[in-house]
Amino acid sequence: MNAYIFKFHLAVFIINCFLSGRNGHVLDETPVIDGHNDLPYNLYALLRNNLSGFNFSADLTSDPVWGSCSSCFTDIPRLRKGKVGAQFWVAYVGCSTQYKDALGKTLEQIDVIKRLVKAYPNDLLLATTADDIVQAFNQSKIASLIGVEGGHSMDSRLGVLRLFYELGVRYMTLTHSCNTPWADNSYVDDAAPVLNLTEYGKTVVREMNRLGMMVDLSHVSHAVMNQAIMASRAPVIFSHSSSYSICQHNRNVHDDTLQLLRNNNGIIMVNFYSGFVNNNATAAELDDIVRHINYIVDQIGVEYVGIGADYDGVDSMPRGLEDVSKYPVLFDRLQQLNSTRWTNETLQLLAGRNFLRVFYEVERVRDNLANEEPYQEWISYEDLDAVDNVSVWNCRTLLNNTSPSLPSAQASIAKRSFNGVVIFTVIVMYMFLTYSILA
Ligand SMILES: *[C@@H]1O[C@H](CO)[C@@H](O)[C@H](O)[C@H]1NC(C)=O
Ligand SMILES: *[C@@H]1O[C@H](CO)[C@@H](O)[C@H](O)[C@H]1NC(C)=O
Ligand SMILES: *[C@@H]1O[C@H](CO)[C@@H](O)[C@H](O)[C@H]1NC(C)=O
Ligand SMILES: *[C@@H]1O[C@H](CO)[C@@H](O)[C@H](O)[C@H]1NC(C)=O
Ligand SMILES: *[C@@H]1O[C@H](CO)[C@@H](O)[C@H](O)[C@H]1NC(C)=O
Ligand SMILES: *[C@@H]1O[C@H](CO)[C@@H](O)[C@H](O)[C@H]1NC(C)=O
Ligand SMILES: *[C@@H]1O[C@H](CO)[C@@H](O)[C@H](O)[C@H]1NC(C)=O
Ligand SMILES: *[C@@H]1O[C@H](CO)[C@@H](O)[C@H](O)[C@H]1NC(C)=O
Ligand SMILES: *[C@@H]1O[C@H](CO)[C@@H](O)[C@H](O)[C@H]1NC(C)=O
Ligand SMILES: [Zn+2]
Ligand SMILES: [Zn+2]
Repeated sequence: MNAYIFKFHLAVFIINCFLSGRNGHVLDETPVIDGHNDLPYNLYALLRNNLSGFNFSADLTSDPVWGSCSSCFTDIPRLRKGKVGAQFWVAYVGCSTQYKDALGKTLEQIDVIKRLVKAYPNDLLLATTADDIVQAFNQSKIASLIGVEGGHSMDSRLGVLRLFYELGVRYMTLTHSCNTPWADNSYVDDAAPVLNLTEYGKTVVREMNRLGMMVDLSHVSHAVMNQAIMASRAPVIFSHSSSYSICQHNRNVHDDTLQLLRNNNGIIMVNFYSGFVNNNATAAELDDIVRHINYIVDQIGVEYVGIGADYDGVDSMPRGLEDVSKYPVLFDRLQQLNSTRWTNETLQLLAGRNFLRVFYEVERVRDNLANEEPYQEWISYEDLDAVDNVSVWNCRTLLNNTSPSLPSAQASIAKRSFNGVVIFTVIVMYMFLTYSILA
């Protein structure tokens, strides 16, 4: 048994010993680890990240601002009721920031997550390792982890990726709903793949493996999911995605990808968003989530599934799962409908133990790669040009400091206008000559 598998089993053993005295719900014995909560974006949108008047310890359902916000589902009392043991708080900045201030704004979101965690030391504990999650649970605190949602945040710079890791970021979603210069997002599935995962994109994945940062494949195209799994040297995650066979949305995961995920030893953390779980979103209910989870288990077994509800990232949740207090209702329902499949043991795998296994394994891969040098590749000018010449080059200077020139684009624009001038001149001269001759 290698050290990491041993650590994983030890963690499970300690959790069980520590809690065997408790006599309550099965989720009291294992942390619920949720892969995706966008509360930090709401802090940005509603408060400009000003935490002074924000009381996370209060039940915010009747708060004038938070209670009437359609995408707000989270506060500490409800997280406690929901038996949440660990939460990935998401540093997300919109696609409109790409090639503009994506990086600066991402840093601000990481900052607000850290300030939030620091402000509630009795309830939240910053976690950057799998052991930290176990320890936070031991102390009855909610382990708080940081994920960056969207490769546009790193601005195609591996140095930035490395510093994200130093700041505590433990997963990066390769795209949001826009292509980066190195990976396609899920909406290309409704059109046609553009770039897939480029060579530079594969380098990003390998550098994430080397760092010990989880590769999150929610939001990427079907082709990029498969290509990233093949490129990754560590298990990957889907931090908030459901099953495409059950609900045909491009954000969901196809069956062939589930097979690759099993071989990769990764995890799909099921998203609750009404629009991703039922083809008729207004009809979405708790049992739709049950259906997604059971379908994934039918396909690949109970070891590769977890929870990534997407609270605060969306504005509509299924009936029965209205806010972060509802996780126990889901687990009870699973067991009620099929107690053969959903024993206390398997419910604990779903709740958090599958994710802990993945996290320990990602750490093990990182340690095995300790002698590998940091990747030093710069993204090529051609890769940047292939996406959108103008907006990319408006925000990047070149090594020779010729910015804001648009290297190839400007050359081609210049060439086009030169050709235009030539043609125009020829026509004018022709008309002039013709006129002269006729006159
Ligand atoms: C499952 O866990 C609950 C809560 O700890 C406990 O009451 C119940 O007896 C357990 N069931 C089995 C079959 O161990
Ligand atoms: C932050 O919010 C508090 C409480 O709402 C307010 O009094 C304060 O002026 C705000 N600070 C800034 C810098 O906006
Ligand atoms: C925040 O809410 C809690 C629970 O309602 C309350 O006990 C506490 O006094 C509040 N804190 C502030 C600063 O208002
Ligand atoms: C849990 O906490 C107690 C004291 O707070 C400590 O003695 C014990 O080692 C901890 N266990 C783990 C697994 O961290
Ligand atoms: C992208 O990947 C798909 C699926 O593997 C493949 O069919 C397509 O040719 C690829 N496109 C490019 C531009 O490489
Ligand atoms: C969608 O679900 C709602 C609520 O159950 C129902 O009223 C409506 O008829 C459904 N629409 C379709 C197209 O099935
Ligand atoms: C209940 O779970 C068992 C074990 O996974 C499975 O074989 C069976 O098909 C499930 N029953 C239903 C009704 O889905
Ligand atoms: C600056 O670098 C770009 C990209 O390599 C190149 O196309 C351009 O000619 C260079 N400009 C000068 C003035 O050297
Ligand atoms: C960017 O410019 C190059 C060279 O001028 C051109 O071949 C390419 O099609 C342009 N790409 C886009 C997305 O506009
Ligand atoms: Zn998302
Ligand atoms: Zn999100």
